[in-house]
Amino acid sequence: MPPNIVVLTGAGISAESGLGTFRDRQGEGIWAKFDPMKLATLEAFARDPELVLAFYDLRRRNLLGAEPNAAHFALAQLKGALAERGGRLTLVTRNIDDLHERAGSKRVIHMHGELLKARCSACEAVRPWRDDLGVSDVCPHCGRVGTLRPQVVWFGETPLELDVIDWALRQADLFVAIGTSGAVYPAAGFVAEACAYGLRTCEINLEAADNAQLFDEQRLGAASKTIPNWVEELVGP
Ligand code: APR
Repeated sequence: MPPNIVVLTGAGISAESGLGTFRDRQGEGIWAKFDPMKLATLEAFARDPELVLAFYDLRRRNLLGAEPNAAHFALAQLKGALAERGGRLTLVTRNIDDLHERAGSKRVIHMHGELLKARCSACEAVRPWRDDLGVSDVCPHCGRVGTLRPQVVWFGETPLELDVIDWALRQADLFVAIGTSGAVYPAAGFVAEACAYGLRTCEINLEAADNAQLFDEQRLGAASKTIPNWVEELVGP
């Protein structure tokens, strides 16, 4: 029987595309340079919306200049190959970038939202958004001014689609965490949930994550090499 796999990806899969990670052992991640409490909370946005929007404008511009790497393409190939054989890949990401989609993956679960979308805090409408976002922008849906924010999940907010992820874990045989530090919950708890449901678990990462001891198997290395190798082992070249 072809496997039913849940993959969780984090910032590490996009690192070789030039998008920074948040925490690393060298202390060079995004949150070592910028204070998340001033940039990634609802309170920060209420206090200084220009500062918060400027931070996400910078990240959006970086993203528009970035390209998916071999790891994103390999996961898209895996999704297609499993589907052809009657298996399934549920692709969950903590990343707000669109590199999985640009590599060809469809129906990606963005549990922390999407940088290339904006949401109106007044009417809740979510729209594609590729430009800078300003405090005087008008919501295209309800016409209010200054209510738009990036469609991203900030610290203190609830991640998206947790019920769908739990359902997918209950059906799966294998849980694989790729390029994620295991530092922020609830995603850091998926491996424990997977163990409780009887799945095999595998970590593929540059350095062992904080919760590495919970995984059955570990593969260390850069995602652009480890992921294509792993996919080839599963479904062939
Ligand atoms: N290949 C594979 N893994 C890599 C690579 C690479 N080339 N480069 C770095 N990594 C690994 C690091 O070893 C680390 O374990 O990616 C992980 C990145 O960890 P974080 O920066 O903490 O990113 P992530 O786990 O996605 O962060 C989770 O925290 O601040 C929030 O909302 C933010 O979604 C984010 C969440």
